[in-house]
Amino acid sequence: MSLKKTKELANGLIIPRLGLGVWQVKDGAEAVDSVKWALEAGYRLIDTAAAYKNEVSVGEGIRASGVPREEIFVTTKLWNADQGYDSTLKAFDESLNKLGLDYIDLYLIHWPVEGKYKDSWRAMEEIYQSGRVKAIGVSNFHEHHIEDLLKEAKVVPMVDQIEIHPTLTQEPLRKFLADNKIAVEAWSPLGQGKILENPILVEIGKKYDKTAAQVIIRWHLQSDIIVIPKSVHQDRIEQNFDVFDFELTDEDIKRIDELNTNERLGPDPDNFDF
Ligand code: A2P
Repeated sequence: MSLKKTKELANGLIIPRLGLGVWQVKDGAEAVDSVKWALEAGYRLIDTAAAYKNEVSVGEGIRASGVPREEIFVTTKLWNADQGYDSTLKAFDESLNKLGLDYIDLYLIHWPVEGKYKDSWRAMEEIYQSGRVKAIGVSNFHEHHIEDLLKEAKVVPMVDQIEIHPTLTQEPLRKFLADNKIAVEAWSPLGQGKILENPILVEIGKKYDKTAAQVIIRWHLQSDIIVIPKSVHQDRIEQNFDVFDFELTDEDIKRIDELNTNERLGPDPDNFDF
């Protein structure tokens, strides 16, 4: 299976399939270095959020890398407290300022805040039309949230970023998204590092001289899932990108799919209180 490093979103925008996620990466040197190391290792997608409170350092890391801005795909997200029409417009400007950029590649609604996400979406559509963001999407939306959004939306979300890892494979939602040409992106793709000792993943890795982390990343990629593993260690950041020289068999993929237990590490989007 030849695996392309990029994927085309519904509006034609090209997104790298593998990026660096920076949730829980500390603002300051930790975030600057992680972003810089990732870009030096060949990553071209960086995924942050206003809520991660590290947008300033992510911007610094991008500039420190020397990689031209237009070669990098930057995602950030609208925080729950900023949802609503006017506050979304304001929050977007703040993210842009903190990152020190004049456009964002992908802006996502972070969580489906009841009674607010449709107003937020209207503002996102307006920002999209203005050209200051190249694609817009959602995160943590179930099928019913998307169906509700689509009743009034002029622009169909291009991405839904959801929790996916081998113990939460989300196959029904992934199918719905694929049917609607909404790209699937995984957060906590390594199960927050909690499943890296799973004997099946370790055993599959041994066949290819790869780690369990590399096996999981490859499983996402071969399953058409955009994947953004987080690490603050240079060797792991490099290791997580070194996944384009081997291929899982259909049998490997099936064995990993079967690790699914539908167990979430984060909150259910139907039941969160922040
Ligand atoms: P660290 O940042 O200390 O390297 P997820 O992306 O699912 O949220 O997982 C991130 C967690 O997995 C972090 O705790 C990270 O730790 C750890 N991690 C990331 N890559 C690797 C790797 N290649 N080997 C071991 N642990 C890793």
